[in-house]
Amino acid sequence: MLFYLFFGVTILFLLFLLSMVWPPDSPWAPWWRTSKKTARAMCKLADVKKEDIVYDLGSGEGTALLIAAKEFGATGFGVEIDPVRFLFSKFILKINGLSNKVKIKRGNLFKQDISKASVIFVYLVPKTLDRLLPKFKKELKKGTRIISYRYEMNLPLKEYNKENQIRLYII
Ligand SMILES: C[S@@+](CC[C@H](N)C(=O)[O-])C[C@H]1O[C@@H](n2cnc3c(N)ncnc32)[C@H](O)[C@@H]1O
Repeated sequence: MLFYLFFGVTILFLLFLLSMVWPPDSPWAPWWRTSKKTARAMCKLADVKKEDIVYDLGSGEGTALLIAAKEFGATGFGVEIDPVRFLFSKFILKINGLSNKVKIKRGNLFKQDISKASVIFVYLVPKTLDRLLPKFKKELKKGTRIISYRYEMNLPLKEYNKENQIRLYII
């Protein structure tokens, strides 16, 4: 009995260690997330207003959308593949009274229609960002602002906030 307990705890501990070095957009990497401070900077860089519809592709715990809705008045939509983070973000939005203003869907961001977005947030690895480019070009309206945290996109750069590692692109 004690052996199984020890075995289980060891496996969990190893998974915890691995999750820290896993690619940041993997559902197995829970420790890569946007802080509230960065989310604020993202909203400011994108000039988010209450008329905006902000999509977070791979919305994680929903922090960026929470800030966009609560402090900037925007409507939010997140898509998240990981069931744990999906449920957690819904819970956080509910206790903040934002369930009507921010919707989170569990699913694959590549299958999500993003044509209604006026602002897009992404915190995804370069390989995924490259794969997303044709979708952005096909579905997004002219003038849609894209904020990428940490990683560069293969689009003309509009503005770079070095302190927060966020880049603004405009379609
Ligand atoms: C680096 S985290 C960023 C989370 C959140 N956007 C933030 O800034 O805090 C990337 C998120 O993308 C999610 N993800 C990865 N691939 C996805 C996919 N194909 N569809 C939907 N979500 C995905 C992961 O589960 C993870 O929550």
